[in-house]
Amino acid sequence: MVDYTALLSAASSARERAYVPYSRFKVGAALLTAAGTVYPGCNIENAAYPLCLCAERAAFAGAWSAGETEFVALAVVADTAQPVSPCGMCRQFMFELAPDMPVLLANLAGDTLQTTPRDLLPGGFTKADVLK
Ligand code: THU
Repeated sequence: MVDYTALLSAASSARERAYVPYSRFKVGAALLTAAGTVYPGCNIENAAYPLCLCAERAAFAGAWSAGETEFVALAVVADTAQPVSPCGMCRQFMFELAPDMPVLLANLAGDTLQTTPRDLLPGGFTKADVLK
């Protein structure tokens, strides 16, 4: 069973490490893998704005680069009125690697919403579309 409290706590800690000199908007993520490891992610911005890396993709990049390919759950947290809404690029990115993984979205007030990349991206572009 996934300990979402621990996963949210890891996401909150990662959020504190965000590098956000431009937006000042910190996002944290924590990705639990089948091996039982939690990979943190935070957003990392750049003076060339389009290069900004979101917390979700940072977490996946760290996990995948460490050899992890099976993902159990992801928590994402930011200071938003509602549980944070992942951007379109992250929805597509997560849909590729873990379409049915539970995703727990949260804000600092403690509001949460559980969903999946598939539900976040109806009609998502897939490997099957490319490798037809
Ligand atoms: N951001 C994320 O890290 N994740 C999201 O899903 C939404 C947006 C970051 C990107 C940028 O550094 C800041 O939030 C403002 O857009």
